[in-house]
Amino acid sequence: MRQLSRETIDQLQRLAAVYKETNERLMEVLLEMQKLTDNCFDRETLGVVSDAMGIPESKMYDYITFYSRFSTEKRGKYIIRMCKSAPCHVCGAREVARSICDYLEVEPGDTTDDGLFTVEFCECIGLCESSPSVMINDETYSDLTPDKIRGILDYYRKEVSP
Ligand code: FES
Repeated sequence: MRQLSRETIDQLQRLAAVYKETNERLMEVLLEMQKLTDNCFDRETLGVVSDAMGIPESKMYDYITFYSRFSTEKRGKYIIRMCKSAPCHVCGAREVARSICDYLEVEPGDTTDDGLFTVEFCECIGLCESSPSVMINDETYSDLTPDKIRGILDYYRKEVSP
């Protein structure tokens, strides 16, 4: 079982203090927290966060598991969300999704062996006018083709490689 470092706990507590000051922006604060914890709220993280925020763990768990942008399972550094809603679907989202999965040698829901990418389907991300679209962490990419998305993934791979 993972043990959060003192530094990570301190960072989580600092973010919790931001939330406690206003009781607003819970989603944004939790998304920032998730970046510090392998893109997931496992049991240990949930305990630390609920204590720091003064929110019961069961309530926090309900919130985390309701929204698809959060996970209780460890995920990759980059979360690829492939829109599967109708406007993207009719514009070639299926081919783009296949290209992503083939390039990374995973199936939807999987994380690559190097821990870099997790691939997920999602509903509309609000970019229907330039379908098909995906999100990689907070960045959005539109008007995609199978070739274009492979180039983007290549960039991410090179960006993080030594
Ligand atoms: S349907 Fe894909 S972005 Fe809206």
